[in-house]
Amino acid sequence: MGQPIDHVATDALGADITIFDTTLRDGEQSPGISLDAREKVEIAEQLARLNVDVIEAGFSAASPGDFDAVKAVAEVVGNATRDAESDDESERTPPVIAALARAKESDIEAAAKSLAPARRHRIHTFLSTSDIHRKYMLKATNDEILDQAIRAVELARSYTDDVEFSPQDATRTDFEFLVDIVAAAVEAGATTVNIPDTVGYALPHDFGRWIKQLHERIPAIEANDVVVSVHCHNDLGLAVANSLEAVRNGARQVEVAVNGIGERAGNCSLEEVVMAIRTRKDLLGADHRVNTPELTRTSRMVSSLTGYGVQKNKAVVGANAFAHESGIHQHGVLADRLTYEIMKSEDVGVDGSQIVLGKHSGRHAFRKAVDELGFDLTDEQFQDAFVRFKDVADAKGGLVDTDEVRAIIVSQSTTTADDALVLESFEVVTGSDEPPRATVRVRLAETGEVSEGTGTGDGPVNAACEAVRAAVGIEGVTLTGFNVSAVGSGIEAVGEVAVTVQVSDGGTFTGRAATTDIVGASIQAYVDALNRSQRITHRSEEFRP
Ligand code: KIV
Ligand code: ZN
Repeated sequence: MGQPIDHVATDALGADITIFDTTLRDGEQSPGISLDAREKVEIAEQLARLNVDVIEAGFSAASPGDFDAVKAVAEVVGNATRDAESDDESERTPPVIAALARAKESDIEAAAKSLAPARRHRIHTFLSTSDIHRKYMLKATNDEILDQAIRAVELARSYTDDVEFSPQDATRTDFEFLVDIVAAAVEAGATTVNIPDTVGYALPHDFGRWIKQLHERIPAIEANDVVVSVHCHNDLGLAVANSLEAVRNGARQVEVAVNGIGERAGNCSLEEVVMAIRTRKDLLGADHRVNTPELTRTSRMVSSLTGYGVQKNKAVVGANAFAHESGIHQHGVLADRLTYEIMKSEDVGVDGSQIVLGKHSGRHAFRKAVDELGFDLTDEQFQDAFVRFKDVADAKGGLVDTDEVRAIIVSQSTTTADDALVLESFEVVTGSDEPPRATVRVRLAETGEVSEGTGTGDGPVNAACEAVRAAVGIEGVTLTGFNVSAVGSGIEAVGEVAVTVQVSDGGTFTGRAATTDIVGASIQAYVDALNRSQRITHRSEEFRP
């Protein structure tokens, strides 16, 4: 084993691994995550600061909401100059914006249309190739699948010269057929061929062998400078290991999601694979262009906007990733950090993310904090956030830290002009003798009418949700998830609440809110989830590849 080595600037090594981020597409397929266009743009702007190469913004044909979100990301992030002063070309040009499309004319057209505003764009088309998908989902022969893939790639190439093809469930596909279809996609003009371990079935040594053999069996990959990519799911906890083994065997693109979010056990975690490549470039002989000090900020933004928390012991971005509890470890780290640390915390942005404001902090300091957290607020959003910050600072009477400022901004950004319901006021009465009772007043945006409802429950939140349901007369909504976490420290810390509801037609939506009053935040989060269920046209199962 080699020794941990100090951080070396990327440009000294040559940057050869393309980081393709799919947080906004595959990550957003996690149950309960429903990002609207504004939230996707917010995250995409942060991904651009992180300097990922490709941002997969969504699945344009899945719903009008997905189409609009991809278009918004293409317009805003796909045209923004990142760092005009930089000598590095990749830091000046906007990231490539990608959209997913089934191997179908209408999907490919929708992807092309939604991506058109971006300076550089990629159509990512896919088709299942394993026997099990072929038999139960496609009901097609291998020849028909081959034909469909070729037509899809050719059609996509008629819109853009940057086309990615994915044989879905590649790792359960007969290897000979995989060779045939990848070769055919390359021949048809695919510039990237992505090998998805769709169900997280691969083991590292075997996956690496397949990547190597694909290069050996298909000379056109090298001849046409086609990028072999990998897209690993984490069902066996091997997504990062499989991706690294693929890199060792010639893969030049890795598909990732921030915090590893995604279907089931999720996707390959961006921060883990990026730091593994950077930390062990001595063994991998490869590097990437990711601006790693933005990792922590990105992770926390995605966590707040999706309502998916990050476990404390999560590699790289977990709260404990750089904490040392044992005396022996503390002693070692105080003497020399390399005794127990293989990465510097500043290289993943942990230290840079500490901002502390107080109740006397003014607009200027708050603006600086907002900018440093990576949020791009309109003047109106900024004013609203500032008022909420002041309320929290007054309620706490003390300091407001980075995570609390982030929670305030994110929860404030949950209300939009399209909201069907606006929480006006509430009272909740609890005591030891009677079940909690709540009265809630909600304004119905369409009519302007304020409707009042009351409810009881076995807890104050339950009673309040019952009262909201009574006020708006909603049926067929089940509360399936409720998560409260303290943001910041101390008894008066801000509580961040994520509420997930399932509506009777199958959609799942997560609402969020954060204040120092946990019951108030819970009611607001519940109303937010209901608003999202109205606002976001969700997709059916066929759009969850
Ligand atoms: O997991 C998968 O197979 C996918 C493809 C669409 C690339 O997400
Ligand atoms: Zn996937």
